[in-house]
Amino acid sequence: MELVEKRLILSYTDDEGSITIENYIKKGGYKALRKALEMRPEEIIEEVKKSGLRGRGGAGFPTGQKWSFVPNDGNEHYLVINADEGEPGTFKDREILEKAPHLLIEGAIISAYAIKANEGFIYLRAEYMDAFKILKDAIIEAYNNSLLGKNILGSNFSFDLHLYPGAGAYICGEETALLNSLEGKRGIPRLKPPFPAIKGLYGKPTVVNNVETIANIPIIINNGGDWYKKLGTEKSTGTKIFTISGAVKEPKVCEFELGKITFRQLIEYAGGIREGSKLVGVIPGGLSAPILINDEIDIPATYEDCSLKNTMLGSGAVIVIDDKIPLAKIIRRSIQFFAFESCGWCTPCRDGLPWATRILRKIEVGNGRREDLDTLYEICNYIKGKTFCALGEGAQWILRVYIEKFGEKILTQG
Ligand SMILES: Cc1cc2nc3c(=O)[nH]c(=O)nc-3n(C[C@H](O)[C@H](O)[C@H](O)COP(=O)(O)O)c2cc1C
Ligand code: SF4
Repeated sequence: MELVEKRLILSYTDDEGSITIENYIKKGGYKALRKALEMRPEEIIEEVKKSGLRGRGGAGFPTGQKWSFVPNDGNEHYLVINADEGEPGTFKDREILEKAPHLLIEGAIISAYAIKANEGFIYLRAEYMDAFKILKDAIIEAYNNSLLGKNILGSNFSFDLHLYPGAGAYICGEETALLNSLEGKRGIPRLKPPFPAIKGLYGKPTVVNNVETIANIPIIINNGGDWYKKLGTEKSTGTKIFTISGAVKEPKVCEFELGKITFRQLIEYAGGIREGSKLVGVIPGGLSAPILINDEIDIPATYEDCSLKNTMLGSGAVIVIDDKIPLAKIIRRSIQFFAFESCGWCTPCRDGLPWATRILRKIEVGNGRREDLDTLYEICNYIKGKTFCALGEGAQWILRVYIEKFGEKILTQG
């Protein structure tokens, strides 16, 4: 069966892309904004709720619902776009940032109008220097065309959009650490609740959304929430951008209707597994998502199907693992990443992950014993449910699943 993409967002990145405002307008750009400005903010939130859109940053929280938590208090509100894209294996937002910056800007203006924010920030991954320049130029173009700033397109709505590069910390992708970083503080998470929609940037109600989430907004406003909801499954509506990397012949960025493709088909779409190797498993949603083994990957790539298999769709970063790299090395590299990126705020994560990394290194060089797996499992128990944020929790989750699914093979598969 031929696999056909449904390119809603990525259609804006085709051909010459939509880097310039002229190209974007030729592709129908900024029509949704004109339509949105004729609507009441509450109607936009209703449309986004109807669409069933779930956040594309990892957790999959319903976007319209998040927006409706912002109090209607007449106070200052902020919109923050999470463009940190730090999850290993994820390179989908980059495609939008570098090739369709105006789609993101249009989505930002509509979203800000809906939540009654007059100021917004794009928090950009430090390493995305090309994206920084492209976005900066696009923001200037938008200001020059009365799409940003005071009285947008002659309306009563004013909105300023700022571009803020991070400094390269994975934890600053976590929404509350991101807000601390934006405020010029140390990038460590905040206690939740209160959630940012109630108390966010500078203590004001703030919506934090991922780049891909915001890029969906003009598409939903142009076509309607009901139209969007018809795509995908009941719990995973619309399309999703997937990045396929690892042991495949042609790593890819692609967009499919949710529920219409399985993980095995995604591997096929990326040219299949590389020559001369055997599939070991697939990490379905970025490094923080527990691995699916070979006989588990015939499930549709949706939020609900992943959840049934004790993993998550996360950022849609599909990392394919084959038998050419020793399992112990893969697990050690993964846990070492989280240990390195731990912000150090809470003890189980700060101390537990380096401890696990040391044991995994011992296994990797061939000195592992059965008891080491027991100790690793104990470390997972020591971290589980006792960390301040999801970084430590996610790291112990993937380690636990590796041990449960592969057991002593981790000691021997070198
Ligand atoms: C350790 C950690 C790193 C994260 N990194 C990112 C990131 O790079 N980009 C992102 O959009 N969300 C990231 N998130 C999720 C955000 O906290 C937040 O849920 C998301 O930005 C909300 O947007 P959404 O509802 O549109 O998905 C991260 C979460 C954690 C715990
Ligand atoms: S779990 Fe890790 S990253 Fe999160 S607050 Fe604790 S030390 Fe920091």
